[in-house]
Amino acid sequence: MENLELNMFSIYQHKKVFITGNTGFKGSWMAAMFHSLGVAVEGYALPPTTEPSHFSLLNLNYKTTFGNILDADSLETAISNAQPDIIFHLAAQALVRPSYNDPVNTYQTNVIGTLNVLEAARKCRSVTAVVLITTDKVYENKEWDRPYSEEDVLGGYDMYSSSKACCEILIKSYRNSFLNIKEYNNKHQMLIASARAGNVIGGGDWSVDRLIPDIATATSNNRKVKIRNRLSVRPWQHVLDCVYGYLLLGKKLLEEDTAFAEAWNFSPDSSDVKNVEQVAEIAKATWNLIDIEFGTPEDAVHEAGLLILDNTKAVTRLQWKAVWNTTEAVEKTMQWYQQWYNNKAVHTNEQLGEYLERLVELNEAVIN
Ligand SMILES: NC(=O)c1ccc[n+]([C@@H]2O[C@H](COP(=O)([O-])OP(=O)(O)OC[C@H]3O[C@@H](n4cnc5c(N)ncnc54)[C@H](O)[C@@H]3O)[C@@H](O)[C@H]2O)c1
Repeated sequence: MENLELNMFSIYQHKKVFITGNTGFKGSWMAAMFHSLGVAVEGYALPPTTEPSHFSLLNLNYKTTFGNILDADSLETAISNAQPDIIFHLAAQALVRPSYNDPVNTYQTNVIGTLNVLEAARKCRSVTAVVLITTDKVYENKEWDRPYSEEDVLGGYDMYSSSKACCEILIKSYRNSFLNIKEYNNKHQMLIASARAGNVIGGGDWSVDRLIPDIATATSNNRKVKIRNRLSVRPWQHVLDCVYGYLLLGKKLLEEDTAFAEAWNFSPDSSDVKNVEQVAEIAKATWNLIDIEFGTPEDAVHEAGLLILDNTKAVTRLQWKAVWNTTEAVEKTMQWYQQWYNNKAVHTNEQLGEYLERLVELNEAVIN
């Protein structure tokens, strides 16, 4: 399935892509996607912290520098040596619970780390585009039943979410101060955009305290899984749909379209969002060994009850649309874990193949 060509991503064919956080869940899928499209990639991240790790299992042949984004010199050297055209910044302290245990590291990694990436990018003349990944949790959550759009007020209840909201403010301020689109092609040649995606699921995530990895790990150990907040609604989406959105956004920046240097939501249609219990039921229907008990643990931290994003902007202006609906996303994810736990098979390439074929079909249907 290597080097599958998709016309919509042909702009990447002669570009060099730099991914921060490529040893993590999303970054490893993004590198796999670029690899299957035949695009040159380099990565910068801490070594994997989970065992197993999707990054290690894939064992793709591309250069990764193991370094800390807080080490500005090391980051700058890696970017300067790579001479990339575009950077996707995914490296982060990406979990809510550790942000309570270590708020300083969360803020340093997420906010100062993002600033370091922007500074290193600005010093490297080859870089013309940077896509910075924040989260669906950047909005001040008012438990509204209406979806949050890009213009809604930023907030973030916990330290992880608020650090990512700070990243959004930083990115906008950095654009105004140094990369103003009014001065594009005059004083600078770099466009930056941020992407706010939903609760991302897919195989190969072994992070603790996330619904799907918790279900998969418990089931593989023949344990019952205790699930909190059964009625919490989240915009669940497959990691490949999320990565697809990031690539479309990056493509627009590489095409020098200044109108896209803004913030973007990526999430399933609001009619397709599901609560925790519904997701757990789909998972169980796919993998019948799953045994679930609902309840709230004593050490539970605050979590929003209702979070839905408005994806209108991405759907209308980027022509992005989720390829797999939420049910399919959960099914594909559980199938991936079953293949791993039953056969020690890494199902990433097969799922990437299925995904890209469906993407081609959907786009042909739109064109015809
Ligand atoms: N997974 C989700 O559901 C989700 C949802 C919304 C947003 N996000 C965001 O997407 C991005 C990727 O998330 P993920 O789920 O892949 O997270 P992850 O924890 O699996 O991966 C994080 C990556 O960041 C790297 N990293 C962390 N601290 C670093 C540091 N100080 N220096 C260098 N590298 C460092 C890690 O090595 C790893 O490669 C993050 O910015 C996260 O906030 C994730």
